[in-house]
Amino acid sequence: MAILVTGGAGYIGSHTVVELQNAGYEVVVLDNLSNSSEKSLERVARITGKKVPFYKADILDRQALDMVFDKEKIDSVIHFAGLKAVGESVAKPWEYYENNIAGTLVLLDVMRKHGVKNIIFSSSATVYGAPERVPVSEESPKKDCTNPYGWTKSMLEQIMSDIQKADPEWNVILLRYFNPIGAHQSGLIGENPSGIPNNLMPYITQVAVGKREKLGVFGNDYNTPDGTGVRDYIHVVDLALGHVKALKKIEENAGLCIYNLGTGIGYSVLDLVKNFEEATGVKIPYEIKPRRAGDIDANYADASRAKRELGWEAKYGVREMCADSWRWQSQNPNGYED
Ligand code: NAD
Ligand code: WQD
Repeated sequence: MAILVTGGAGYIGSHTVVELQNAGYEVVVLDNLSNSSEKSLERVARITGKKVPFYKADILDRQALDMVFDKEKIDSVIHFAGLKAVGESVAKPWEYYENNIAGTLVLLDVMRKHGVKNIIFSSSATVYGAPERVPVSEESPKKDCTNPYGWTKSMLEQIMSDIQKADPEWNVILLRYFNPIGAHQSGLIGENPSGIPNNLMPYITQVAVGKREKLGVFGNDYNTPDGTGVRDYIHVVDLALGHVKALKKIEENAGLCIYNLGTGIGYSVLDLVKNFEEATGVKIPYEIKPRRAGDIDANYADASRAKRELGWEAKYGVREMCADSWRWQSQNPNGYED
């Protein structure tokens, strides 16, 4: 039996494919390559020594999905495929709802028609909105999201929970990621944003490699120790390993489960800059800019449920995250384009 990984050519997906193959799972990847390159899967094969069966297809394409489920013996789906740029989602809400929500509805329908009722879904800490207190546990109320991207995650959580409630044969695991950074220790795979990076770490590494002049720090008047935003950065390999643990949970007929995947430690923007400089020896010039719309003071995870129920906890620290992000960026200044 195989695990279908949608969006498996992307940043988190490619790292998860490595850990699944290392754990002995048979993996099939489906991706439309709208935000990724097939080269990531060639690199995965170099790391694991195993080929990655790949279908270039869209989750909105029912016929293509049917064909994959007819051909492959799929047991469970890990569903990463989706658009994820917050700012773009504000400008193109229809595209985000169509791709992420309609696409997932097609996927879920094809799954049930083929009797495949196990899914692990990439959700996000964004569903907590501006949390009342940190660390935030899974019991914390979901809040209004500040952008359509966030709403797609929140709504898809609801949709999958309702489907599981109506048919308890489904196993649905919702994983709420905090802020994934870092890259595989080999330096062969990593995050490959197109255009100007929206997220902090890829911006820092592009400054470090000389592609951008300096980092803009969005606000230093937040209610945090140094005034800059605090987040829970988690190594992407730890995140990937969380999916392997979630699959084990599915094998126990878990029903509906929700887990935060974070380290439980918050670092400010300036903490991350300092750690990056110390881990790599590269100086990051920065300037303080106005706040970015929709940003919150602080968010970090109470990840104790994942530890208790999955036996998972993050093992890499912020220095390793910085060193590994830098290894990937410095060895691949143009991502997979070289
Ligand atoms: P990514 O863009 O690198 O990966 C997503 C992949 O999905 C890409 O390879 C893209 O080509 C593919 N894709 C998009 N729409 C598709 C479609 N209609 N059909 C088939 N493939 C499609 O992003 P990532 O950072 O690896 O994120 C993976 C998942 O995790 C996403 O669902 C994202 O929303 C979620 N997530 C990411 C973060 C983060 O900070 N990176 C945080 C929380 C949640
Ligand atoms: C982190 C901190 C910024 C860039 C976003 C999405 C969220 C999730 C992860 C998917 C903040 C500051 C950033 C820069 C800066 N994605 N910053 N200069 O905002 O926590 O979360 O990505 O689900 O949904 O909203 O992450 O990396 O963008 O920002 O000062 O150039 O860095 O203000 O405090 P964020 P981020």
